[in-house]
This record gives sequence, C-alpha cells and structure tokens, in this order.
Amino acid sequence: MTVDQDKPEEVICSCSGTTEEKIKALVASGRAANLDQISRITGACSGCGACDSTIQELLDGLLDAGCSSIADTRQT
Ligand code: FES
Repeated sequence: MTVDQDKPEEVICSCSGTTEEKIKALVASGRAANLDQISRITGACSGCGACDSTIQELLDGLLDAGCSSIADTRQT
C-alpha cells in the first residue's frame, strides 16, 4: 500500500477507518509524533497490521518535511 498525496481523505487503515488526513492533523497539532501515538489515538495498526509500513512512511514524510517542534518529540 502506498500513500496517495492527492487523496488525503483516503482511508489508509481499513481496520480502524483512519484517513491520511486524520494522521496529518494529529502530527500537525503535535498530538502524535510516532506510530505508537497514532495507534493509541486512532486505533490504526492495532488490527491486521497491514497499514504499519504505510503509516510509518507517511509519518516519516511529515516529520522530514520539517516541523522542528514535532521532530523534538519524535521517539528514536
Ligand atoms: S489496516 Fe490498519 S490494522 Fe489493519
């Protein structure tokens, strides 16, 4: 599964119904900066696990895009 940048409303975790838009909003607000936080808030990655790499890829792209306040809270 890949992230389609042109469809932010697209569901990327079918088990929880989590959309790309929801994850972007969580990261932008500083509420989530890693996969565990996204999973706890949305339920993503807690079902079949098929979305793990897609969400991690999206998260990496968002963090690499350059929000230093988000990067400061990023777990390594
Ligand atoms: S698609 Fe995300 S846990 Fe199944």
